[in-house]
Amino acid sequence: MKTILITGANAGIGLKTAEQLVSEGHHLILACRNLVKAQQAKQQLQQLGKGQVDLIELDLNSLEKVQQSANGILSKYPHIDVLINNAGLISDQLDSTEDGFEKHFGVNYLGHYLWTLKLLPLLKKSTQGRIIHLSSIAHWVGSIQPEKFLAKNNPHYRTFSSYGSSKLQNLLFSNQLAKQLKGTSVTSNALHPGVVDSELYRQLPKFQYKLVSLALIPPSKPADLIKKMALDASWAKKNGKYASVQTPAISSAKSRNARLAQELYDRSYELVKQYL
Ligand SMILES: NC(=O)c1ccc[n+]([C@@H]2O[C@H](COP(=O)([O-])OP(=O)(O)OC[C@H]3O[C@@H](n4cnc5c(N)ncnc54)[C@H](OP(=O)(O)O)[C@@H]3O)[C@@H](O)[C@H]2O)c1
Repeated sequence: MKTILITGANAGIGLKTAEQLVSEGHHLILACRNLVKAQQAKQQLQQLGKGQVDLIELDLNSLEKVQQSANGILSKYPHIDVLINNAGLISDQLDSTEDGFEKHFGVNYLGHYLWTLKLLPLLKKSTQGRIIHLSSIAHWVGSIQPEKFLAKNNPHYRTFSSYGSSKLQNLLFSNQLAKQLKGTSVTSNALHPGVVDSELYRQLPKFQYKLVSLALIPPSKPADLIKKMALDASWAKKNGKYASVQTPAISSAKSRNARLAQELYDRSYELVKQYL
């Protein structure tokens, strides 16, 4: 039985992935913001009558809250076998995290950055730790512009490029971690889950939603791939890979730029170090 921690497991891809993993008898820790939805998800998973399901509150909108949740995990669990950084959002208007960061940067990326660094010691205690990052094909439209990390520095905010940038940050982080973890028992890999029928597009204007909905696939498809990446022997030695559902797994040149990955890592470290 593996201990598997998933962020944003109360809906969409995270919930379907948790369902598949608990069905195989694993121990799932659901790290969720909305606890009402999370309790419902927990009950739904427990009804499967297999494995074990725990719940922990996690709000990636605040670095202090991420720190508190991670400390809770560190004091409760001796090890984690798989960390799935899944939670994410699309914000159709400029918004800020509690720390003043642009919402996509803060929630989709920086919160997970802090969360992962805090929990790395538990993954290192696993015989084979695996970290899986939910990136997206949208990373192709992303860019790294540190001046835009703060919400107040985005006078010409555009939803898709901002979301895409956060998914590029997820991928660069995965690649940088993979490099740092080489030769250890922990791996780091990322994926594009396909264009999935979930709650993610709930904020998009109707017209855009209609366009997106033409291509939607069920969350069970990415859940199949994530399960493989989390447990399959074929993924045991893979490190620094980018996988994809629905489209070829081709990542952008920017996402493979080692210098950019190192710079983003170093800047992010400066932003979160007081919470480590
Ligand atoms: N759906 C797609 O087509 C698609 C495509 C490419 C990549 N992805 C990526 O796949 C991942 C999962 O997305 P999904 O499609 O399953 O979306 P979803 O159905 O909207 O689920 C997103 C999850 O993230 C959680 N979340 C949002 N803000 C949070 C916060 N501040 N703190 C903690 N959790 C928070 C949500 O919790 P609440 O219920 O509390 O809001 C929810 O559980 C995301 O990283 C997304 O970028 C999705």
